[in-house]
Amino acid sequence: MRTLVFGGTGIVGRATVAAARRRGWPALGLARGQVDVGDRARVERAIALFRPELVVNCAALTQVDACESERELAFAVNGVAAGVVAAAAAAAGARLIHLSTDYVFDGAGNRPYREEDPPGPRSVYGASKLEGERRVLEAAPEALVVRTSWVFGAGGANFVDTMRALVARGVDPLRVVADQVGGPTWAGFLARALLDLGESSASGRVHYQNREAVSWFDFAREIVRTCGARVGVVPVATAEFPRPAPRPAYSVLAVERFEQLVGRPVEDWRAGLAHHVRETGGESR
Ligand SMILES: NC(=O)c1ccc[n+]([C@@H]2O[C@H](COP(=O)([O-])OP(=O)(O)OC[C@H]3O[C@@H](n4cnc5c(N)ncnc54)[C@H](OP(=O)(O)O)[C@@H]3O)[C@@H](O)[C@H]2O)c1
Repeated sequence: MRTLVFGGTGIVGRATVAAARRRGWPALGLARGQVDVGDRARVERAIALFRPELVVNCAALTQVDACESERELAFAVNGVAAGVVAAAAAAAGARLIHLSTDYVFDGAGNRPYREEDPPGPRSVYGASKLEGERRVLEAAPEALVVRTSWVFGAGGANFVDTMRALVARGVDPLRVVADQVGGPTWAGFLARALLDLGESSASGRVHYQNREAVSWFDFAREIVRTCGARVGVVPVATAEFPRPAPRPAYSVLAVERFEQLVGRPVEDWRAGLAHHVRETGGESR
């Protein structure tokens, strides 16, 4: 499948281009400097030139705290531009997979969020991504919005590499919040999921994250163990780390729809963590 990826320089975009090429699919990832998704003419031209069968939109403003003070830009990129890409893909007859996030929910739940659960974003990032979902499905009702969470992988800022960088700087113990629970997701597994979904004809929304749900604290302990680092990890409360954007306390997504669509269970994030550590330079200290 000829695959065009907007936001092709980010964590998910890179992994998606690499996974498509491994399948022997012609794939092109576009950097923001090549095509700004807010520029309708350039988006249309990129699609006309590459003639993709599948468009994967990974372009987004993802710095959750920065979005709080950049509301207009967040809504322009994550909201309006998402609709622009969707309309252009639909007009060209290409299938569209659009990335969204667990942050569309308020995180006050206590059982995994299903696709049809009412959203309630608590941050500008979450609200702008929700607006993007609405615009995508309005412009391209056949499109699929894939909500994911806690992504780690090569090529961008992520929690795993942050923990490893702290260890490398000699921080001991690591103090990590223990009262937020979610589903870590390796970009390599996510990319495979996106391509499998690209081959399906599913539309609407689908949730994808790796198993099992953990707290950031438990995730950090596993990162330290996998890297063979000898540092302590201490649980702390979210209240001890005040940040501009509130984080959902509970970010567990129900993945049954995904599993039914592709006919296999979601992967374990621990296997993804081992892949990531191997591919990005192994142990810490
Ligand atoms: N990372 C996570 O934990 C996570 C969790 C849930 C959902 N998601 C969603 O997954 C998708 C991919 O995220 P990611 O983790 O790969 O993010 P990322 O590493 O920050 O990558 C974002 C990409 O979007 C590009 N971009 C930003 N503004 C753009 C614009 N105006 N025009 C074109 N490209 C633009 C960036 O280019 P530059 O590098 O040039 O800025 C980069 O290539 C996003 O929709 C995000 O909301 C991510």
